[in-house]
Amino acid sequence: MLVLAHRGASGHEPENTLLAIENALQMQVDAIEIDVHWADGELVVIHDRKVDKTTDGQGQLKNLSFAQIRQLDAGKGQQIPTLDEVLELIQGKCPVNIELKADNTVVATLSAIDKAVQEYGFDYDQFLLSSFNHHLLLQIKSLNKAIDIGALTASCPVDYAAFAQRLNAYSVHISVDFINQAFVDDAHQRGLKVYVYTVDDEEDIIAMHQLGVDAIFSNYPTRSLLKIAHLKGAPKSDAPIN
Ligand code: G3P
Ligand code: MG
Repeated sequence: MLVLAHRGASGHEPENTLLAIENALQMQVDAIEIDVHWADGELVVIHDRKVDKTTDGQGQLKNLSFAQIRQLDAGKGQQIPTLDEVLELIQGKCPVNIELKADNTVVATLSAIDKAVQEYGFDYDQFLLSSFNHHLLLQIKSLNKAIDIGALTASCPVDYAAFAQRLNAYSVHISVDFINQAFVDDAHQRGLKVYVYTVDDEEDIIAMHQLGVDAIFSNYPTRSLLKIAHLKGAPKSDAPIN
């Protein structure tokens, strides 16, 4: 079971900042997840379309200039980074899951990936693009068939992971609140990997191990990696599920 640092190592440093990315790299996580929005002609790394929750500013990204966005404190004096800055920092040392949070992000994200491959030492197969907006995933595939996509859901659909297979996804990313054995088995039968967000509690990590999921998103990656290493060493039946 892989561990992706959720919004960087966001349990330790301000989420989606260069500090959180740097911290995740030091933890030698299996991959790093970040969220991207489109603002004033730039791809910026932030979860919400409003800056209120994670910065000292207020309002919607769409109403702010890039200069105004860069003046905001995203925690510990960090600026909201651009996608390019994040990829430059990572330098191909770790795979990246870019979660597209908004319209107008697809073309710019694919361009940023091209630049990262040409200039920052990445391979294309180190990228996984995901979104709750499945129209964006279709657009990605229409522009670049080779890039892996992850189909996000915050539900357990009646036909389980069929929607992800229809999208030609590599993986299906589902909330820990809705995962169950039937969903995992269905996804695996369709040849899809199962990634689960957000898994930090020991009890949840054990449960995901029991379900046989392929990866978890964690705000505390080191703790999760240690727990998984322990579980791998322990007989499966010894691990309590509840
Ligand atoms: O990509 C996994 C997870 O980050 C999806 O939900 O809201 O944390 O971006 P959210
Ligand atoms: Mg996300």
